[in-house]
Amino acid sequence: MRILGIESSCDETAAAVVADGREILSSIVASQIDVHRKYGGVVPELASREHLRQIVPVVREAIAQAGMKLQEVEAIGVTQGPGLVGALLVGITYGKTLAQALGRPLVPVNHLEGHVHAVFLEAHKAGRAAKLPAVCLIVSGGHTVLYEVRAGDSNVQDPNGLLRYRKIGQTRDDAAGEAYDKVAKLLGLGYPGGPILDRLAAVSNGAMAPVKFGPTKMRGNVLDFSFSGLKTAVLYHVREHNEYVEEIGRREEALARGERKFEQLLPLCSPKTLALVREFQNAVVRDLVERTMNAAEELAVESILVSGGVAANSQLRATFEQRAKSSGVEVFFPSRALSTDNAAMIAAAAYSRFRAGVIADTTLNADPSLALA
Ligand code: KG4
Ligand code: ZN
Repeated sequence: MRILGIESSCDETAAAVVADGREILSSIVASQIDVHRKYGGVVPELASREHLRQIVPVVREAIAQAGMKLQEVEAIGVTQGPGLVGALLVGITYGKTLAQALGRPLVPVNHLEGHVHAVFLEAHKAGRAAKLPAVCLIVSGGHTVLYEVRAGDSNVQDPNGLLRYRKIGQTRDDAAGEAYDKVAKLLGLGYPGGPILDRLAAVSNGAMAPVKFGPTKMRGNVLDFSFSGLKTAVLYHVREHNEYVEEIGRREEALARGERKFEQLLPLCSPKTLALVREFQNAVVRDLVERTMNAAEELAVESILVSGGVAANSQLRATFEQRAKSSGVEVFFPSRALSTDNAAMIAAAAYSRFRAGVIADTTLNADPSLALA
């Protein structure tokens, strides 16, 4: 069964065709990063406008790359939420219209369930099976949340059956990706911050960290996260030390000239800045890994699933792999392309929901804070 997935919850307009919830026939992502870059974050009105411009060509491209005609689409999966309401509405309205015109079912998908299915898609490609129950960490620019994932029917190990989710932890303030983006911005390293900080942290030459960031203690639910304190600690450290001012200025000038590549910015970073970035990344990764491992241990799960834009982080991947090996659980990541927002994950999630009989009618509306339950 070939399902067209449509995703427009944030700043990526995406369409994909996936067969039987497993085989990716095409996956097109039109990123709006260039539109939002100069604002240092996603501007909702601009996002909606860009989705409007992109949705038709992106869907056409996905259909063409799958070697299909639009009429051959058997169902349409669309992100209902969570996300930006105006952005979601573009995908939903387009999906509804297309479903009506083709006489095909429309399947509403939770964006977060999409991220979970991105892991299953990748596992399938690699010939591996992610055993349930699992703990899933979804970590992106908009979300940092931990779920317990169980098979709907506890005897069945089928990611294409409906899954049950229980939220067991979440960020109380910033998402981890948001912390990356804000720290990169204050250091004059551009937007988005994750990819460049990831690479800069890796080349840091072992210079002593100019400041130490201890683990974040949580009162109440110890599986909750918090990243705004860490971001503020970086901000205060930079403000209190004049020697950062000049190099930040030089990097901001480079960015203004359009020189935002790693190779262009690296020579403008002092060893002290590199060590600061490394220390920031150590703190984020330690926090994400510790809480997820604690959850996995407590719930005695079989696997750990990690998804969302920050799941592309190389240190996060390496640390999870190491920790998982020594604790006997298996850890699964999507490829980098499937980690960030895409529509293949939406089409994959739509397949299991369709099989469970979840179909929307024309009253389907965007739900900016749709919960996964
Ligand atoms: O999932 P995504 O594409 O969009 C949503 O936020 O839903 O994630 C984007 C976020 C950004 O905050 C970006 O800085 C972060 O993921 N990111 C990374 C890396 N690549 C992207 N963060 C850390 N390390 C990376 N390699
Ligand atoms: Zn996402």
